[in-house]
Amino acid sequence: MRILALLTLPALVGVLLSAAPTQAAQTQAVAQTPPMGWNSWNHFAEKVDDADVRAAADALVSSGMRDAGYVYVNVDDSWEGQRDALGNIQTNSKFPDMKALADYVHSKGLKFGIYSSPGPKTCGGYEGSYGHEQQDANTYASWGVDYLKYDLCSFENVIKLHDPQQDPQKAVAMIQEAYARMHQALVNTHRPIVYSLCQYGVGNVWEWGPKVGANLWRTTDDISDHYRSMALIGFSQAGLEKFSGPGHWNDPDMLEVGNGGMNPDQYRTQMSLWSMLAAPLLAGNDLSKMDETTKSILMNKEVIAVDQDKLGIQASRLGPPQIWVRPLSGGAKAVAIFNYVTDDEVEPLTLRLKDVGFTGSVHARDLWAHKDLGILNGTYTVFVPQGGVVMLRLWK
Ligand code: GLA
Repeated sequence: MRILALLTLPALVGVLLSAAPTQAAQTQAVAQTPPMGWNSWNHFAEKVDDADVRAAADALVSSGMRDAGYVYVNVDDSWEGQRDALGNIQTNSKFPDMKALADYVHSKGLKFGIYSSPGPKTCGGYEGSYGHEQQDANTYASWGVDYLKYDLCSFENVIKLHDPQQDPQKAVAMIQEAYARMHQALVNTHRPIVYSLCQYGVGNVWEWGPKVGANLWRTTDDISDHYRSMALIGFSQAGLEKFSGPGHWNDPDMLEVGNGGMNPDQYRTQMSLWSMLAAPLLAGNDLSKMDETTKSILMNKEVIAVDQDKLGIQASRLGPPQIWVRPLSGGAKAVAIFNYVTDDEVEPLTLRLKDVGFTGSVHARDLWAHKDLGILNGTYTVFVPQGGVVMLRLWK
């Protein structure tokens, strides 16, 4: 029984963690900048099917998003069917042929992602990978999968069965073992596969994610398409910057831009904040029905360039008020000034250049107005819309 096997976990974790050199080698090969693409969950949830994913791939190309960097097409939960007599995972009727779908996505110059759980069941109650990790990794590789989101879900029940007292330390050791196990399975396929941990930040995952082979890890519970949810998640990332960098990123969950629950200023806040945070940019809207405002937000190339900056340094917060600063390659800095409060009169906010590490004058560009601001000296005062943002690039 797997549950009995889990009794020797601390030893197993030690062995798996000590295998770090090979794992690190693969980890470095992918996700050198935060992954960008689309994921089915935020808009389609369990309704997603093969046609929706093909339409998303088509729209990534026709909208220009692919060329702006959005290359992963990730199917989230609800694709899974039952296992066959040999234990091989099958798709359900919504996804008649996953290999053909992956081939279609690849034919568009895109990459293909999939979803599973270390538990027996996924969060949606579909078949998880528990006890079938290598078999599933092999199946994914044979389909041409380039990205796996691995979501804790019912593994929490495995932990409870193993340790009814639910000692938090034992629970974290078990979670680490489960994630390291799937990472090793992915490594064994010899296919470069981005490895995305989804366990909602349990046990300070940012402290050990790279050791279990993660390229990114969710830092919080699920986002929803409301300003409050987005702002709580995004602004709570302060302090996590030291754990992020090329090949291993904090993941404050996917974008809600274009899903309709926030206004354009609030969506600009999500796009800006996520880019300041060097977060993955996974669009979560229906790409086949985007208005021009949504496109202008998702495809602001100047903001994307901040997200994708090669140094991979996540922004830090100065303040309150919410002023964030991110060092960029070449000595430039991105600065985002957010008006977090949504029910007050809009008041001017003042940035002091010395607070973001500049003495004397600097060049400035407004990344949403797409406008050079000329030379700034000492301070910059600006009205920021409620729930909105002003994002600048500053350089000497
Ligand atoms: C969890 C994850 C979500 C999504 C759903 C799917 O809630 O955090 O991002 O993957 O499961 O069931």
